[in-house]
Amino acid sequence: MQAKLIEIQHQATEDLKKAQSVEKAEQIRVKYLGRKGLVNELIGKIPTLPLDQRASFGQLANKVKNELQQSFSEAIQQLSAVKTESFEEEFFDISLPGIRPPYGHKHPIVQTIDEIKEIFSKLGFAVAYGPEVETEYYNFEALNIPPDHPSRDDFDTFYLDDDVLLRSQTSTVQIHIMQKQSPPIRIIAPGKVFRPDTIDARHSSMFHQIEGLMVDEGVSFSDLKSVLTIFAMAFFGKDIKMRFRPSFFPFTEPSAEVDISCSICGGKGCSVCKGSGWVEILGAGMVDPNVFKAVGYDSEKYTGFAFGMGVERIAMLKHGIDDIRLFFENDLRFLSQF
Ligand code: PHE
Repeated sequence: MQAKLIEIQHQATEDLKKAQSVEKAEQIRVKYLGRKGLVNELIGKIPTLPLDQRASFGQLANKVKNELQQSFSEAIQQLSAVKTESFEEEFFDISLPGIRPPYGHKHPIVQTIDEIKEIFSKLGFAVAYGPEVETEYYNFEALNIPPDHPSRDDFDTFYLDDDVLLRSQTSTVQIHIMQKQSPPIRIIAPGKVFRPDTIDARHSSMFHQIEGLMVDEGVSFSDLKSVLTIFAMAFFGKDIKMRFRPSFFPFTEPSAEVDISCSICGGKGCSVCKGSGWVEILGAGMVDPNVFKAVGYDSEKYTGFAFGMGVERIAMLKHGIDDIRLFFENDLRFLSQF
């Protein structure tokens, strides 16, 4: 049986030499070393040997197995190396056009924010950012919003804790900036705001605002008017008209809501402006002295204006989009149009 084993080893080595491919070498390996291969077949016959020969044959069989295994590994390794070097098999036509990855681009809301930032930067406004998670102090108290104001209700603001909430307006950034800097101040602050509104074509529980704040000696309502008019003409076009309606915000006095002539119908009246020819785009006013008091500014010396606009609303008016949800659904048929 020993002679037979040596013969098998010899035969396996010869067969292996002739193998031209990994597949072939693998076939030969199975034939000799596989579970039902020739070597195992012989090992299976050990019990038929006389007792005193079994151990030595077993040892020899193991040695042959190891040696063969080694030869197969080496051969398979060599054959697979040859394969990758082979020009025939690996021919790669470098003149073929590549696969172009789909290019993304900025989201229309980010594009709108960028455009607005650019217009205000030409007017000398720097860009500031504030946190999206706030305390009641920044979202309400410092902004002169009293504890019984409806916006402080659970229905109107997302509370995370008794005192901690998702900001419902970017006016919070006014406070952060004025606490850190003294006048003159000229900033805009873009960012996300959150309100537990029922989602429909005009409402979303998260949307974007851009806050504006200018504080210095002698800043007047006419400065507010001219800055906003320059902005509206730069953003919507020279023919746009603007009107200021008296309004109320706790953190500005006097306050105004600002409309532009409807950019969809040109002021003739359509479904977007509900036939009026005007659409509201922002809230604004002169900074209330109580807000200056909260940040330690001298309201006898300084005056300022603030405004806050809804970015989605402005983008919808500019592009004639009739449903705010389109911005957040990640539908490429919509997004790729921008
Ligand atoms: N924060 C107000 C809102 O969310 C907008 C506003 C900002 C009004 C600044 C006046 C001054 O409705």
